[in-house]
Amino acid sequence: MSMMKNFMGWIDDRYPMTKVWNEHLAEYYAPKNFNFWYFMGSLGMLVLVIQIVTGVWLAMSYKPDAELAFGSVEYIMRDVDWGWLIRYMHSTGASAFFVVIYLHMFRGLMYGSYRKPRELLWIIGVIIYLAMMATAFFGYLLPWGQMSYWGAQVIVNLFSAVPVIGPDLGVWVRGDYVISDATLNRFFALHFLLPFLLAALVFIHIVALHKVGSNNPDGIEIKKGPKGNRWSDSAPADGIPFHPYYSVKDIAGVAGFLFLFSVVVFFAPEMGGYFIEHPNFEPANPLKTPEHIAPVWYFTPFYAILRAVPSIAGSAFPGVVAMFASILVMFFLPWLDRSPVKSIRYKGSLYKIMLWLFVIDFIILGYLGTQPTTDLYKLMAQIGTIYYFAFFFLMPIYSKMDKTKPVPERVTE
Ligand code: HEM
Repeated sequence: MSMMKNFMGWIDDRYPMTKVWNEHLAEYYAPKNFNFWYFMGSLGMLVLVIQIVTGVWLAMSYKPDAELAFGSVEYIMRDVDWGWLIRYMHSTGASAFFVVIYLHMFRGLMYGSYRKPRELLWIIGVIIYLAMMATAFFGYLLPWGQMSYWGAQVIVNLFSAVPVIGPDLGVWVRGDYVISDATLNRFFALHFLLPFLLAALVFIHIVALHKVGSNNPDGIEIKKGPKGNRWSDSAPADGIPFHPYYSVKDIAGVAGFLFLFSVVVFFAPEMGGYFIEHPNFEPANPLKTPEHIAPVWYFTPFYAILRAVPSIAGSAFPGVVAMFASILVMFFLPWLDRSPVKSIRYKGSLYKIMLWLFVIDFIILGYLGTQPTTDLYKLMAQIGTIYYFAFFFLMPIYSKMDKTKPVPERVTE
């Protein structure tokens, strides 16, 4: 025991180990009323680690070469020891990442976690989300299947729709006039780099969180409430130490998550074509366009918005603007919500209806983005797009009009 103490003392004199442990874990007081939705942040970190570890292992056998890439993935699946498991963990992990983060973002919407003083924390979150999308997009080209190739072709062509600089921009992104070996090489380099940037962003996200403290399902600032609990006289009365209370709770979340994750990895890794699209079992063929090109499910709401907006003079640029706007509008959320209360628990029916319709709208748009366009589907996507933007742009009005309930002084359990 005393040897251990001496050793820790030696470290602490040279590095603030105990100080960091206490400040961020053992003496970090989090609201005592966290619920299911508060699992998602730690699960996001777990999936990021799974992706980095399996990704590095995949890279040991993968070949970023247009001639060899498809075959090298088949080689990983059939010949590399446990290669099938590593690959399925990585492909399932990509979808799991978005499931977890969509739930994480939805929690933010429900409890007003983007509101003052957490605006910057939210903004860092949206930057993380953009980085996740870029990472997934670059990664999807790597197996060099039909959907990898044609999906990338469609998305990179969007850059060519930008007025004046568009065509040059498209060539600059691809490194060629079409998606080619040069594109595959740079996408591989970027796909390897971005997860490390993501890890750095997550660190910044947590630093911002610990500066302001966690929100909670009641949307009450525990730091502003009474002080003093079993552990400390100066800690918020409604706070409990993160470690061991929430570290143990998060382990229970990890167990539940890994159970579901394993079910998918072992029994349904393609998930009916939603996690791995069927045309991707065919090698990329620049001479054969697949009948229907659709991105993976987590991009499809935005793809539906892209296709819903009519072209002007044959240019898809308005759709491209709408698609990017539908993501960038999230940055402004902290200033669009004018409700006097944060959490949905104390908001009125108007806000609740708007939020639930938004969820249904997002799911419908997601479905429409997976389907070939018909007149009916196009009309539905147009209505869905209008509602998507109305949810954000009308928020200052309906969040103010909404009849809210009184917020209790202390968190409820
Ligand atoms: C790699 C992706 C991400 C990871 C690993 C991550 C991690 C975390 C963790 C560990 C927490 C604290 C625990 C929790 O509240 O669940 C947290 C809180 C938070 N995150 Fe994230 N996050 C990610 C992406 C995002 C995104 C995309 C957004 C929003 C656009 C976001 C917004 C927030 C907010 C607002 C909080 C505070 C929530 C509250 O206190 O109620 N995060 N995040």
